[in-house]
Amino acid sequence: MAELTSSKTIDLLKTLSSEAKEKISAAKLAVDVEQVRVSYFGKKGFISEVLASLKNFNAEARKEIGQVSNQVREELESLLSQKKAELETRELDQKLLKDQLDPTAPGVFYPRGELHPIRKVLREAVQIFEKAGLTPAYGPEVEYENYCFDKLNFKPGHAARDMQATFFVKNQGTERLVLRTHTSPVQVRILLKAAQNNFELPIRVQIPGRVYRVDDDSTHAPMFHQIEGLAVDRTATMGDLRAVLDYFFRNFFDEKTKIRFRPSFFPFTEPSAEVDASCVFCKGSGCKVCKQSGWLEVAGAGLVHPEVFDLCGWDSKSVQGWAFGLGIERLAMLKLGIPDLRLFFENRLSFLRAAQK
Ligand code: PHE
Repeated sequence: MAELTSSKTIDLLKTLSSEAKEKISAAKLAVDVEQVRVSYFGKKGFISEVLASLKNFNAEARKEIGQVSNQVREELESLLSQKKAELETRELDQKLLKDQLDPTAPGVFYPRGELHPIRKVLREAVQIFEKAGLTPAYGPEVEYENYCFDKLNFKPGHAARDMQATFFVKNQGTERLVLRTHTSPVQVRILLKAAQNNFELPIRVQIPGRVYRVDDDSTHAPMFHQIEGLAVDRTATMGDLRAVLDYFFRNFFDEKTKIRFRPSFFPFTEPSAEVDASCVFCKGSGCKVCKQSGWLEVAGAGLVHPEVFDLCGWDSKSVQGWAFGLGIERLAMLKLGIPDLRLFFENRLSFLRAAQK
């Protein structure tokens, strides 16, 4: 390059500059702009090479060329960054437009957990009894045989013990333990505790919980749920009991539901009743479910037997009580129209989903 005069070099710089300007304005993408920058100002770039040859010129020529090259560089740098910014903005806009959220696109189904239908029915029943003034109370599922039977006035060897085929658990010292066959032993616990507590009255409780019996068919399971009701005061009548159950069934099924009491027997109540509700399917006119009777058996009930008060440390002459017990699975079958109890415990998702109401 030694033979180049300063004016030829300046011409060359100007030519390179206008060439670069054309390329910049023709660039379609930000990466193209970057390529132009590299090809003119990179290490081996056209303009860089011209400037590298400056050492062959005298001081005056270097000054002249230096001025022009600075000008060219400034001008091109600013065009380059302007164009790059412009193209980058456009590219981003296009990307955003393409990636835009489409609210009409089909969604993804996330299955949601639900309470088991039995748990839902149990909670609903508890809520209704709460409105009727009964406070929830609880007792253990592994229970003393004494509380499950003896203190409830089941006489030793009495046939009533066999009515509820019992799971026995290993003894605790001399105490025989069972899986409770009903929630009634919690009546015993509550009476014993209140007796210690200066016979505090009134008692108005409901006892929801699991119970166990050696039983397994389409309407009986080895484990099921009951709600026990217990009210104790100076006076307590079958009329009060009936009013509470009437309120419950009208709220649990529908306003038109009627109930009736039939005489029955339980060792721990006297008098005792079997409670029927008018059939929820045929409304009392007779169908397959109620075996044409128009009625469904839904609970056991009665006045607390004086013997139970005495066995729990009370003076049966100065106190009265009523009690009832109902099976939640049976109520759930009737409410949800489910024919086989075992479906509740197989836990097939298709069944559980269909049983959600
Ligand atoms: N415990 C009885 C049963 O499980 C039901 C019941 C409870 C009856 C309270 C009367 C009073 O069969």
